Amino acid sequence: MNFKIILLPGDGIGPEVVGEAVRVLEKIASKFNHSFDFQERLMGGCSIDKYGSSLTDETLADCQASDSVLLGAVGGPKWDDPKAKDRPERGLLALRKGLGVFANLRPVKVHPALIEGSPLKPEKLKGVDILVIRELTGGLYFGFPKGRDVKDGRERAVDTLEYYDYEIRRIMKLAFELAKGRRKKVTSVDKANVLESSRLWRQIATQLGKGNPDVELEHVLVDTAAMKLITGPAWMDVVVTENMFGDILTDEASVLAGSMGMLPSASLGVAGSRSGSEARMGLYEPIHGSAPDIAGKGIANPVGTILSAAMMLRHSFELEVEATAIEAAVDRSISDGARTADLGGKLTTRQMAEELIKNIQ
Ligand code: IPM
Ligand code: MG
Repeated sequence: MNFKIILLPGDGIGPEVVGEAVRVLEKIASKFNHSFDFQERLMGGCSIDKYGSSLTDETLADCQASDSVLLGAVGGPKWDDPKAKDRPERGLLALRKGLGVFANLRPVKVHPALIEGSPLKPEKLKGVDILVIRELTGGLYFGFPKGRDVKDGRERAVDTLEYYDYEIRRIMKLAFELAKGRRKKVTSVDKANVLESSRLWRQIATQLGKGNPDVELEHVLVDTAAMKLITGPAWMDVVVTENMFGDILTDEASVLAGSMGMLPSASLGVAGSRSGSEARMGLYEPIHGSAPDIAGKGIANPVGTILSAAMMLRHSFELEVEATAIEAAVDRSISDGARTADLGGKLTTRQMAEELIKNIQ
């Protein structure tokens, strides 16, 4: 099969890790007889520098017309001026919104060989296998009113946590669907003791829970969830939550895996955009940032991006065998001791990818 993939390497270490993911995908293409058509575009700080905009209309249109998008990372000190008209992060948010990818899947698994590297006690980490589903195109990031003004002689800034029922329903539906293929438990995270939007969130979660009696539903307040991620992560399965809550909780959860550099993500829209099946348009990116401190050194961990490419094969192209081949190669390489600097090792970005490619069977 032929698939059209837009690459948005972005800023900092983005181009280094995306470059290695492409090499892994090329290996998959030749081994399993597919053809991937890669086209590279600018997004983020590099796009501001070249076009004066973090995401141009043309780039967004190209992404919309592709089968999926693989992104590295955006941002860096160069574009951090708080007064700047545009920021790299704005491009990323506009891309997510423009692609309609409302569900951000962030799986957190701990490889047994990396347990030692985590600051948590080993016995807490055994069996950790969490799928965080972060709502991505609504909530506090996107609600209106939003902005700054002067009111009663005071400078004021406003962000709004807004949700429509359909936005909550569609992500909750996906959470239950995915839980059925896993350990059949959904933890819905909200702040229903304080926030109106969370009370609607909980109401809809409860409704969907009644329609899915085979899945256990629990409601956990976000502050408690932050604590439970550290004290008892092994009994979480699918965790579904608001945009900003999910942003915060997934950085926290990444500590469990030993390094942020290991973790992939998939952002999905509605099913059926390809061949009327379960395949979906998707945006795939590691959860780490652009890491300006190590950019250009060739030492970043490419695994998060490579595992994101595996998620692309699974969710956008329905290539389950190929996706599993990559994931198994990562497991094998880590078991064999392959480590980049973030994991306490000495392998370069390229060498780490080479190890994985050797292990693709
Ligand atoms: C993430 C990042 C982004 C977010 C930033 C870069 C806008 O932190 O993907 O988690 O907040 O969504
Ligand atoms: Mg984040």
